[in-house]
Amino acid sequence: MNIIIAKDYKEMSQVASQMIEDQMTKRPDAVLGLATGGTPLGTYKELINSYKEGRTDYRLLSTINLDEYVGLDPEHHQSYRYFMNQNLFQSINIDKKNTYIPFGKAEELEQECRRYEEVIDTIGPPDLQLLGIGENGHIGFNEPGTSFDSETHIVNLTDSTREANARFFESMEDVPTKAITMGIRSILKSRKIILLASGDRKADAIYQLLHGETDEDFPASSLKSHHDLTLIVDEDAYKKVQ
Ligand code: F6R
Repeated sequence: MNIIIAKDYKEMSQVASQMIEDQMTKRPDAVLGLATGGTPLGTYKELINSYKEGRTDYRLLSTINLDEYVGLDPEHHQSYRYFMNQNLFQSINIDKKNTYIPFGKAEELEQECRRYEEVIDTIGPPDLQLLGIGENGHIGFNEPGTSFDSETHIVNLTDSTREANARFFESMEDVPTKAITMGIRSILKSRKIILLASGDRKADAIYQLLHGETDEDFPASSLKSHHDLTLIVDEDAYKKVQ
């Protein structure tokens, strides 16, 4: 594992976006694996800035996102499709048909999972997968206990995850109860993985990642078996390790 310690969130985002740009220079038709959540937002801003400065071109690029809520329309403001459109895709010259996100409104969810795994295998696997980490070590929607052999699957969201997300919805009843997520094995198919972590909130998870056992109770520990993992962490998230 390569570890890059950045001063703060901004520097972490700059390092990550530079690595993505380097990948795009090497391969203009690269496939990027993307995440939602707060952590990659700064990276997406940096990517948008460099696009506006004429340093990047996304015409040949494809993206594959990790996860999506079940039951939300792509236009729903809390859907991950909407998040990606708002925070990245609408500000760069990517062809929307080259952006893949599970379809949360699929009638046959199991079939949608299989279709998505096929997308990963045919369009992908990603040359570079960007990941955030949950405080309990989750990656994607793979919560503690998820099999390391898992491929794209349906997850029942725990009450604590639904409560944590309730603030984004009008009422608790509106918070989805399920999500579709790439599994651990699907994520590990990526050629290169960048795991981002920023802030005090992530310090325990980073300590556990670097000092704990590889165990299904801590999903991010699966990443340690990957041959090309880079952890980009800021000083706050790294502070318990030192
Ligand atoms: C989102 C995702 C999640 C987040 C994780 C951290 O697509 O895969 O695993 O990366 O929940 O979230 P933030 O970045 O909001 O702390």
